[in-house]
Amino acid sequence: MKTPPKINPEQHDILPLLAAQNRTLDWLNTDDGNPYSLPNTARRSYLEATRIVPLRYRKATAAHPDIRRWINGLVGEAFAAQKRQPTPAAVVRSGPSLLILGSVGVGKTYQCYGALREMALTGVVAQWTVVTAADLYARLQPRFGVDSETEFERHAKAPVLFVDDLGAGGKLSEHTENVNFRLINYRYDHQLPTVITSNLLPKELGGRMGDRVASRLVEMCDRITMTGPDKRRQVAA
Ligand SMILES: Nc1ncnc2c1ncn2[C@@H]1O[C@H](COP(=O)(O)OP(=O)(O)O)[C@@H](O)[C@H]1O
Ligand SMILES: [Mg+2]
Repeated sequence: MKTPPKINPEQHDILPLLAAQNRTLDWLNTDDGNPYSLPNTARRSYLEATRIVPLRYRKATAAHPDIRRWINGLVGEAFAAQKRQPTPAAVVRSGPSLLILGSVGVGKTYQCYGALREMALTGVVAQWTVVTAADLYARLQPRFGVDSETEFERHAKAPVLFVDDLGAGGKLSEHTENVNFRLINYRYDHQLPTVITSNLLPKELGGRMGDRVASRLVEMCDRITMTGPDKRRQVAA
């Protein structure tokens, strides 16, 4: 495997992200020739993250202390697993999930993309799949010529999955209820790290998502409730 190119800080919003991790640009751009060294893995993961993260969130960092704790937990477990069973790089494979609740515009999506970017710089391999709940339901709508089961598995089995805005929109159809249950149940059974955002209140989860989904979410997730004004309106004002 080739070692990834050096990161030019002028083309990337990377210095605050490095500072948040107590890392330096010199560390990140170290190339010792080993493609799996921590900085080489971190650069590869960071460049992959720039392909996944939408333009609006390209500078995101996860300021919330509970999110940083969640990242550190998964990263620590990935290194511990690598010690138990040596592999070239440490890989995030299992661990707790994260449920981020809060009203529209408080910054939930921003925190999640911040977590994705920050995890990249730790030097572990975390393969993220990102989807909004609404896009997921649309992709899994049974239709001619599309194997929706393969598409379901691509999300259900993702090593790290970010589902944005679960429970938003109108009344749940049988299809969306079914997708919610199958997806959360799979992630729950296999203890696959999942980040979920929702603008539901904690007490609304059961009524909206059904008790089977809500009960699993409560057990598998560290829950964070974000409060504050709608940042979109602040920007507009
Ligand atoms: N900590 C932050 N620093 C700077 N901008 C932020 C921060 N959190 C959110 N934003 C911006 O505020 C807007 C709303 O944030 P977003 O994460 O999309 O909200 P939510 O997902 O809760 O609806 C976006 O434009 C986002 O980039
Ligand atoms: Mg959002």
